[in-house]
Amino acid sequence: MTLEVQSSPKTNAEPCAMIIFGASGDLTRRKLMPALYSLALQRRLPDGFCVIGSARSRMTDEMFRERMRAAASEFSPGGLRDERVWEDFARRLYYVSGAYEDPEAYQQLSEFMAKFEREHGTRGNRIFYLSTPPDLYGPIIRQMAAAGLAGRANRSEGWTRIVIEKPFGSDLETAKKLNREVHEVFDENQVYRIDHYLGKETVQNILVFRFGNAIFEPIWNRRYVDHVQVVAAETVGVENRGGYYEKAGVLRDMFQNHLFQLLCLTAMEAPVAFAADAVHQEKLKVLQAVCPISPEGVNDFAVRGQYGEGMIGGRQVKAYRQEPDARPDSRTETYAALKLFIDSWRWQGVPFYLRSGKRLAKKVTEVAIQFKQPPLLLFKACPVDKLGPNVLVLRIHPEEGISLRFEVKVPGDEVCVSSMSLDFSYQEAFGSDPADAYETLLIDCMRGDATLFTRHDWIELSWRILDPVLKYWAEKEPQGFPNYPAGSWGPPEADAMIGRDGLQWRRP
Ligand code: BG6
Repeated sequence: MTLEVQSSPKTNAEPCAMIIFGASGDLTRRKLMPALYSLALQRRLPDGFCVIGSARSRMTDEMFRERMRAAASEFSPGGLRDERVWEDFARRLYYVSGAYEDPEAYQQLSEFMAKFEREHGTRGNRIFYLSTPPDLYGPIIRQMAAAGLAGRANRSEGWTRIVIEKPFGSDLETAKKLNREVHEVFDENQVYRIDHYLGKETVQNILVFRFGNAIFEPIWNRRYVDHVQVVAAETVGVENRGGYYEKAGVLRDMFQNHLFQLLCLTAMEAPVAFAADAVHQEKLKVLQAVCPISPEGVNDFAVRGQYGEGMIGGRQVKAYRQEPDARPDSRTETYAALKLFIDSWRWQGVPFYLRSGKRLAKKVTEVAIQFKQPPLLLFKACPVDKLGPNVLVLRIHPEEGISLRFEVKVPGDEVCVSSMSLDFSYQEAFGSDPADAYETLLIDCMRGDATLFTRHDWIELSWRILDPVLKYWAEKEPQGFPNYPAGSWGPPEADAMIGRDGLQWRRP
């Protein structure tokens, strides 16, 4: 097989300082540091790039560097692969401690930044990364503005950007409030709401696959597509995040962001350009066209579940209610399935089934587009309803790739039919695993490219769709929780929901 690799030249990231609020937290250790170190290994960080970590804990620069070294060794693929690169990178790590609610801490940071920027070549460019608990986002932004650290035109040199981690609000009202707080200090083009799914190579590939090939687009609509299934199943439980998860649940944790992003990329129209505004506009239109689920419709269009104890990979695991920080009578959903319709010329009448859950049988993320059956029976030995449907699967995890299932004749006198598939694997074709999502997103932010980030209005619309379900679930006691054992594929009610349409969930 010949492989012609064509890539668009990427403009270089600009020199900047990245100020991480919440630098002693898990995200910094597990994701941000390994991603930055990996960029350093690939020599993709801009000249003069520096990190200034900030958090409550008291630490010297040296202590921070040691901690980050441990983090990179533990969480970077292949560990600390190059000691010299690490040493060079570690010299660019600094730490400033301070309490988030203390105005004095922001004054000190502001003074530190002014001095720091004179000495380093960051040209006054600043990326603020909010990696703290979400209830601190608003207060931190206000304090930054008051200390002159951020803001629209308060500095003569350099740009300021802010990266905001999920969750962005916990319902429509709180998301709107946070958007207002952000916009009091920043223009929308300075704001980078991060969703790590958008940084995954295979997620970005959905757009390239759809709009870089002419043969799929003509059949990508209600005339040919029977239904679409989007799944993000996990084998992990809530691990050490019980406190957060109790308030979140899977609809807030996975649907409002990751699953809705996959839905939008699969269903959107071609944008006029592969540029932030054009892509955001088309994704927004998908959510605008999603039929709202009314309170009376929740039981027909949504299913919730919570895991009980069970076996995962041959190991006995606890029920959700026994996890640290989970309430013993918790009503939090760890599984959900939704059936959505998109009222547009392209998709009217085509159901989109979305599901996600913790402690399921397998870690798998994919979008499967199932096409309609052929219209008539030609092969007597194989009635048309026994033919397997054509399914195009965009696999995001594991074995990232694409496969297309079709029917072929089994050799022999009779015309017997069997399902086969054409498979493309990233690993086989390109010889390496795709880059980590955070690497892509951090570099994009340094370049000022917000295409793979989320705009304020998309966030609000996504909450508008989920709010009625969240409200209904909050008011009504769930039936029979826990209703699926760990290690299964979810509650029987979810099978019943899709079963009422004469369909089944895929068991990838
Ligand atoms: C995060 C959620 O956003 O995504 C986690 O908060 C979840 O609960 C994770 O485990 C899944 O991401 P991935 O990349 O492993 O599919």
